[in-house]
Amino acid sequence: MTSLPQLLIPEPPSTIREIAPKSLPPNFIWGVSTSSYQIEGAAQVDGRGPSVWDGYCRVQGRIANGDTGDVACDHYHRYAEDIALMRDLGVGAYRFSIAWPRVLPTGRGVVNEAGLAFYDRLIDGLLAADIEPWLCLYHWDLPQALQEQGGWLNRDIAGWFADYTKLVAERFGDRVRRFATFNEPSVFTLFGYGFAWHPPGTTDPAGLHQAIHHVNLAHGAGVDVLRASVPAASIGAIHNMQPARPAARTSTDEAAATLLDEYWNKAFPEAQILGHYPPALARAIEPYVQAGDMDRICRKPDWFGVNHYSPVYARADANAPLGFAWADAPAGVPRSPIGWQLDPAAFRDTLIDVNRRYRLPIYVLENGAGAVEEPNAMGEIVDPERVDYLATYIEALREAIAAGADVRGYFVWSLLDNFEWGAGYANRFGLVYVDYPTQRRIPKASARWYAQLIQAEKAARTAR
Ligand code: FCB
Repeated sequence: MTSLPQLLIPEPPSTIREIAPKSLPPNFIWGVSTSSYQIEGAAQVDGRGPSVWDGYCRVQGRIANGDTGDVACDHYHRYAEDIALMRDLGVGAYRFSIAWPRVLPTGRGVVNEAGLAFYDRLIDGLLAADIEPWLCLYHWDLPQALQEQGGWLNRDIAGWFADYTKLVAERFGDRVRRFATFNEPSVFTLFGYGFAWHPPGTTDPAGLHQAIHHVNLAHGAGVDVLRASVPAASIGAIHNMQPARPAARTSTDEAAATLLDEYWNKAFPEAQILGHYPPALARAIEPYVQAGDMDRICRKPDWFGVNHYSPVYARADANAPLGFAWADAPAGVPRSPIGWQLDPAAFRDTLIDVNRRYRLPIYVLENGAGAVEEPNAMGEIVDPERVDYLATYIEALREAIAAGADVRGYFVWSLLDNFEWGAGYANRFGLVYVDYPTQRRIPKASARWYAQLIQAEKAARTAR
């Protein structure tokens, strides 16, 4: 078992210590999150098929430094060490995703037993360490073979996703209770079909609207399969929820922000939980909606997964395919080391708003800070900005709970530094540093801080 290095770390802010015993619900879950393509590596090992990300990484200019997920954190081979790190952190839960092409190399049909066996080992290891597995079915690594049959533009994908879900549910449902269908569906659809920043790398509004609807149909079909196969399952979907703001206070930018808000915050939860699309999207998606579709999509989940980093901004742009452009946060706002806006009040307000709109238990399944960092002369990674970020955002979460939001868990993104999509390995979000050439793991000061926080919370709970 690894142990965390003794590091000189900042004391948790006094407000946290004061609020801690009072404000969290008794079974509050502390966790960490990762995803398959970002950490597993072993891209061509034991029969894994290619995913859309394998190909996309090879298109010149798409990924910083030409990085790929081929090796990533080699978690496929080092999962036991990674579980030991989680045990040292004291987390009660670990959210990971299954790589669809690892278990079904061509997306449907022939099953890859070696791939399933990897997740057996991972899940059994987690349970033995007393860490609850939270299994996400889709964190963006679509099998390439399905992309070649149209991917999210082919309505049949709802059935393909249901069959994949059945395989996973029947294999792991005896040990896993927490299932999420999709991670951030609005990111992979909008970035994949609206801005060409993710695979398939197109700017095609009609495709975007079809993809949104087909993902929603797949969600509904997946939930039905999970309910039928795992009666005790606790099911949700994971949505990125951030305020969408206008770049400038002009009526055209305000309209752009309203539209971005529909794509970013509403296209999926409103359809899945309330049974309708927001107004502008309803008009755009209508051509693809068949009789009975909204009933197939709308399924009451057991919880709402929130991922949150910072607000997003839109600017009107008549020449952009969607009529708006992605904009940067205003000059002068506080920023994280990689330039993302720091705004914990936006996190608090988002949680309160999600609670009010959807009336479901909320789990924060991603929150964290990116940085470009390296060990100091002592070989340690001292990351006060990340500690500060976590402290202020967790404080905002406590404020949301105090204001009545039913928030039941918080998972840091991420356990490990990993493949950060278009930014490659340059941006590090881990509590644990990964030295990629050697694959050595070094817990950062923030890991120790998080472990202490979890311990303090446990102690406070026992004392109550
Ligand atoms: C989220 C993704 C996750 C990670 C973080 C930083 O949008 O779900 O995979 O890249 O951002």
